[in-house]
Amino acid sequence: MEQRDRWATKLGLILAMAGNAIGLGNFWRFPYQAAVNGGGAFMIPYFVALFLLGVPIMWAEWVEGRYGGKYGHGTLGPTFYLMARESLKPKSAVIFGMIGGMLAFSVTTLLNSYYLHIVGWSAAYTYFSATGAYFGKDSVEFLISYLSNNTQVFLFWAISVGLLGIAVGQGVSKGIERWVKVMMPLLYVAAILLVIRSLTLGSPVKPEWSSIKGFEYLWEPRFSEVTFKSALAAAGQIFFTLSLGMGIIQNYASYLGPEDDVALSGLATVSLNEFAEVILGGSIAIPIAFAYLGPEKAIAGGVGLAYIALPNVFMNMPAGQLFGAAWFLLLWFAGFTSAIAMYNYLVALLEEDLKISRKTGSAIVFALYFILGLPVVLDPTKATIDLYYLTELDNWVGSYLLVVLGLFDIIVAVWLFKPDNFWEELHKGAYIRIPNWVKPIITYIAPIYTIILLLGSTWDYYKAGYFKAVPSYVSAPEYANWVWYARGMIIFILIIGAVEAYLAIKKKYGEELEK
Ligand code: PHE
Ligand code: NA
Repeated sequence: MEQRDRWATKLGLILAMAGNAIGLGNFWRFPYQAAVNGGGAFMIPYFVALFLLGVPIMWAEWVEGRYGGKYGHGTLGPTFYLMARESLKPKSAVIFGMIGGMLAFSVTTLLNSYYLHIVGWSAAYTYFSATGAYFGKDSVEFLISYLSNNTQVFLFWAISVGLLGIAVGQGVSKGIERWVKVMMPLLYVAAILLVIRSLTLGSPVKPEWSSIKGFEYLWEPRFSEVTFKSALAAAGQIFFTLSLGMGIIQNYASYLGPEDDVALSGLATVSLNEFAEVILGGSIAIPIAFAYLGPEKAIAGGVGLAYIALPNVFMNMPAGQLFGAAWFLLLWFAGFTSAIAMYNYLVALLEEDLKISRKTGSAIVFALYFILGLPVVLDPTKATIDLYYLTELDNWVGSYLLVVLGLFDIIVAVWLFKPDNFWEELHKGAYIRIPNWVKPIITYIAPIYTIILLLGSTWDYYKAGYFKAVPSYVSAPEYANWVWYARGMIIFILIIGAVEAYLAIKKKYGEELEK
């Protein structure tokens, strides 16, 4: 068998992992979560979750990835199987392989299918900002007219996903690594430019709306708002932002050598993401929006903040074309370097399980994302920016299933692989020695925390009406079928993922399965 591709340099690896983690979550999800969940006080449940959940699961995923890579696997099915086999019979271990494979497959196909569209919108809006296309127009109407123009939507989608396909087709060390080495520094430059702009922005509307006031508003600790619900939001944000429970940290870690450090590198990934999230993400979008729009309109998240509130500001700001372009380019780089990891997961799956070459695999995945993205574009509720299909996928695949996979990360990598083996693996080739008191945190506290998060989220979803045939966020019931298309898709993809994992394990380890 030919030698598996490996990261060429430590710097490249760290930038790739940072690129994987740093995404839209840092720049538009985090500030909103903080603003509505206690401001500065949100940092308490946030950092608790970071240390008790984020870091342990990050380490678990690095260990899994490097372990799978040693046997030629960059996907979760066979990796979970091999680790679970340490304490289970092959016939039972295969179940864990199927669960891991199925969950990671659903995330890398479905989460990315809409994420890539948002990446495409960012490319479009970079162009629209640079040319001033939306200046002087109503931001809501402009967005709706952009989304209604399928030719345009697909053009910018195809530019973005085409470039991703090229990068992934070139390989890990010769493709992804080289691309992130250019994009990540540019991402930081764009972010720092925007932070400087943000923190020096007075308000032409009302002096008390300056961006510094917005910054204070966002970060002012409101302890009474910190509830169980906001603790769930904090833990959910940690999962999303660190790219945990997706299968993609493992995939990147599978291109390590068996003796390469994971302990310090995992921490470096976390630190770079947190800098980009708390410091950069917390200083850009909301403070800028605040200066021109005030507290009511600036405290927004997601599409509303990025594509409606901020364009409204850029069109009125001196050098708004430049700063607008910088903002959307930042989102584009952030999204691109995250989506590339999802893309690579699927190419690795085709390569390892079906022996399809990387170039061909990359073209197949392009076509797959095109098809899976169609419902996002055809969804009639985009005309009101409600996007039922996307919302339903995001609620389940983009939040809930991550936590389920996170729980299985610990079950497989720590319990079934056995805590002592895990601790030893974690320290193999490690640049640091992790203090022993951390071990019970990983073994007991992290899984209990994850179970509480899962139960809490289930209860929350139930109360919010997400389990209903027509979920509570649907205000136009005549389009509720699009919610059901999303649900059908999730079930279909989960089944495919489980079957694929089973066949992949059977193909390679069939003999032991017979026993
Ligand atoms: N960690 C990413 C973020 O913060 C999440 C993500 C990764 C989403 C890969 C999609 C694809 O945005
Ligand atoms: Na992130």
